[in-house]
Order: sequence, then structure tokens, then C-alpha cells
Amino acid sequence: MTPERPTIRPRRPQFSSGPCAKRPGWTPAALAGACVGRSHRSPAGKAKLAEAIELSHAVLGLPADYRLGVVPGSDTGAVEAALWSLLGPRGVDVLAWESFGRAWVADVVQQLRLPDVRAIEAEYGRLPDLGRVDWERDVVFTWNGTTSGVRVPDGDWIRPDRRGLAICDATSAVFAMELPWDRLDVVTWSWQKVLGGEAGHGMLAVGPRAVARLESHRPSWPVPKLFQLAKGGKLIEGIFRGDAINTPSLLCVEDAIDGLRWARSIGGLPALIARVEANMAAIAGWVGRTDWVDFLAESPAIRSPTSVCLRLTDFAAARSAQRLADLLEAEGVAYDIGSYREAPPGLRLWAGATVETADLEALFPWLDWAYGEVAAAKVR
Ligand SMILES: Cc1ncc(COP(=O)(O)O)c(C=O)c1O
Repeated sequence: MTPERPTIRPRRPQFSSGPCAKRPGWTPAALAGACVGRSHRSPAGKAKLAEAIELSHAVLGLPADYRLGVVPGSDTGAVEAALWSLLGPRGVDVLAWESFGRAWVADVVQQLRLPDVRAIEAEYGRLPDLGRVDWERDVVFTWNGTTSGVRVPDGDWIRPDRRGLAICDATSAVFAMELPWDRLDVVTWSWQKVLGGEAGHGMLAVGPRAVARLESHRPSWPVPKLFQLAKGGKLIEGIFRGDAINTPSLLCVEDAIDGLRWARSIGGLPALIARVEANMAAIAGWVGRTDWVDFLAESPAIRSPTSVCLRLTDFAAARSAQRLADLLEAEGVAYDIGSYREAPPGLRLWAGATVETADLEALFPWLDWAYGEVAAAKVR
């Protein structure tokens, strides 16, 4: 028997894994204070950029000696600025277990063509053997693999006495999970994820060991202006105080500030993490009582609580998953919940801090209903 068509709809059907749902209560009025039509180098424009940096630093509880800057090109721009500026002096271990990690492998192997690279990889749903990582080398990895819903369980595998740099793409983890800052030398993210900001800009956090590398190492390859973090053996300090490398959108900056103010107003990082964990608990409850769906991540310790990737347990999962996602999109109850284009077929629900648990709870009956509809259509 197929379930009845539900009557209660999620108030906000935005479950995309990027750009992600805006914060609860957001309207375009949040942008009223934007410094539009002004130079980003004017005192007013620079103050806005500095506010976005300082609020991020404070909400995340970054160590005082970690610098944070706004960079072009979103998270990709931040990661590539780090790779292009820092790599070279040591061998590199690059970890990959889904699409974005693989992009960083391709950068290091095919673009930078470093001679001594080890790609430590795993299939979707799994984590590679973290014990293989050699901390004499530089290590590039993703904290939370957004396209497979697999994250590293913690930072215990990162050596405090490492000689290489730990370079971490944390775009779907930051503001949602605890990060061991003292074990991470470079951390990157974008505005479009956990706080629901507008896309286009990246954030780059660098610790003292990364700064020392930036000031002592000159890459042997050309470094585009957009990736330049040091000049003449000195860090470009201005980047970390609100001097953008090139022109940012001050409308996006205002939106990022709005998200950060919201984060602070609800209680900061602990409150954000609590919201994410409540969302994950709701999803785990539904998956536990639903026989047609399971997590793609092979164990709870490595399950992402933000980009929750699900596989359909029946044999025709590929077509069913997309039809199910299309049906719910047409109903206007869930947007963008099909799995990433390179990931195994399935569903992906964003459950970051801007998503309300009540909206997920309202979505589950719709998922059950849509599955029933898709399964019934197949039988007919
Ligand atoms: C883990 C990870 N890395 C990199 C990216 C690319 O981010 P952007 O499009 O912000 O450059 C994404 C986007 O979803 C991501 O999830």
C-alpha cells in the first residue's frame, strides 16, 4: 500500500547542498545596510570586509595568531590559492574520497605536476586509511566530503608535531562541526554553505606555520595574481585585514555579515552545531524506520551531519532516486535533493545550521509518499 499524500509541507523546501538555505527569517531587507555603489577600498567598504573577517574569527573561535582573509573564487579559489602558494618544498599526500577531494588530486598531480605526490583515495561511502598519511609531508584533504556525505571523524590522526602543513578544505564543515584549529595550518570555506550566504567569495584561514612557509618559499611555477598571498618574501597582510585581492561584491559581503550576526545572536558556534546535530538526529531517526533508504557513509562515525547522502536500497535505485527527487521538486516540497552528478545515484539532504528540523520532519512523509509513487509506477 502506498502512503497517503501528506498535507503538511516544509515551510522552506530549500535542501540544496550549495548554495544552501538562507538563515531562518531572511528577507532581502537583510541587505539594506550594504555598502553598494562604493569602492571596496573606501573606509566604509573596507570596514565591511573587516567586519566579515572579525565576526567569522570570533564566531569560530579561531586562535589569535590565525589570520583570516576574503579571497576570490569561493572555496575553490581559497584552496587553489593555498596549493599554488604553499606546495613545493615537501612531498605531498592528497586525500580523496569523493569529487572535491579528487579535484585537489588533479590540481596537484596534473596542474602543479609535483614529482612526489601520493594520492590516498577511497570510494564513495568510505574514508581512506588515515593511518597511511605521512606528516613529514604536506597533506591536503577535505574535512567533509560534500558529495559522498563522508567526513573525517575527528582530528586525532593529524600529528601535533607534524613537519608538513595540514591544508584543509572545510567548506561544508566550518560553522557546523568542531575543528581542531591547532592541527590545521590552512582552512578554507565559502559563504554559501553552513550560514547560507551568497556565493562567489572564499575565506582562507592561515596559521603561523603556513605564514612561515609563505614567507620562506617561492613557488617554481607562475602564481596568478588571484592566488598571490605573499610578495617579495612577505605575507600580504592587507588581505587579512579587508584589502581584497580584487573587487568583491559588497552586497555579498553584507549578506555574509547578516549570516554571522544571526549565528552570534542564537548563541554562536555551540548553537550552530546543536542545530546541525538535531537535524542529523531527525534524519537518522527517519532512516532507521525506513526500509528503502540507508546512509551512503558506511559507518556513523564518518557520516556527515551537513550533506547527508542517502542511497536507495532497492535494485533500481538509479532511476528511482532521480524520479523521486524530480517529483518532490515538482510538488515544491524539496529542491535540489538529487545526488551530486558524479556521485552514486541517491538523495542528498542539506542539514546545515540554516535548515529547520521541523522542515526536515515535514519532508520525511513526502519522501515516503514519493517513493511509494515511484515504486508503484514501476510495478504498473
Ligand atoms: C568540499 C567542497 N569543496 C569544494 C567545493 C567547491 O566550492 P565552491 O563552489 O564554493 O568553490 C565544494 C562545493 O560544494 C565542496 O563541497
